[in-house]
Amino acid sequence: MAIKTKIISICSEKGGVGKTTTTINLAGGLAKRGKEVLILDLDQQQNASHALGYVKDGRPTTAELIYNTVAGIPIDYAEAIRTCGNGVDYIPSSPMLTNITGTIANDTENDSNFVLRRLLFNEVFAEYDYILLDCRTILDLLISNALNASDYVIIPVDLGIYAYNGLDKMLDKVASINNTTNRSLRVLGVLLNKLQLTNVKTSLAESIRSEYSELTFKASIPYCPAQTELAVLNQTSSVFDERSSLGTAFMNLTDEVISIVEE
Ligand SMILES: Nc1ncnc2c1ncn2[C@@H]1O[C@H](COP(=O)(O)OP(=O)(O)O)[C@@H](O)[C@H]1O
Ligand SMILES: [Mg+2]
Repeated sequence: MAIKTKIISICSEKGGVGKTTTTINLAGGLAKRGKEVLILDLDQQQNASHALGYVKDGRPTTAELIYNTVAGIPIDYAEAIRTCGNGVDYIPSSPMLTNITGTIANDTENDSNFVLRRLLFNEVFAEYDYILLDCRTILDLLISNALNASDYVIIPVDLGIYAYNGLDKMLDKVASINNTTNRSLRVLGVLLNKLQLTNVKTSLAESIRSEYSELTFKASIPYCPAQTELAVLNQTSSVFDERSSLGTAFMNLTDEVISIVEE
């Protein structure tokens, strides 16, 4: 049964926690489960774009789509959407995204909080079951736009000493969005990433789980650097190895996401 398109931001103000890794592997998992999936790269560093096989091609990126939406210039969405081998579609980013907040803030005719929401309102996006927004590592106007356009947010947490800090800031941001511009935004889950069986990491994971029990995904992602790199490389041709520990973890996450979203 087709579901209404669900838009999910993968977001944290902390860098290196696994936002991009989660975005591309969750997208791969959802595609494996037969879902139509689109990724929007909202980070000028283009990590997701490159992982998905993007090479500069002169076609529109997320930056041009945002510029044109603000300027009211018609957009050829078909030109902007690329397809990669594993059935995941994506719109890459570009360095132009770096200073995009000035442009968004200039959106005088409409509300600058909802530029991305208006953009995603186009009917081409209704073809997708899931749209994943790979957010950059700063909670600025672009990322507020992402959260205002989203039904859900996934918050990856890496188990370092500042884990709580990033998580609390993110939860405050969601609360403030809930109170102002998007009442229906929900935390889909806090994702414990880079799990290692050391005493410190295990006890940190347990304390996050007990403090945020309602919010934390049952699925967690083990620390496996070699497999993480391999999974990224494989995105262009096939999906990750479902039998690897990383692949198993992301399929568990995928199934948990589907069960919550499509309940
Ligand atoms: N579960 C994991 N095991 C090992 N390395 C990981 C894992 N998740 C992410 N990484 C690595 O950590 C780094 C940051 O991950 P990334 O997804 O780019 O974070 P972000 O998008 O939040 O900045 C990358 O080098 C990535 O390969
Ligand atoms: Mg990233």
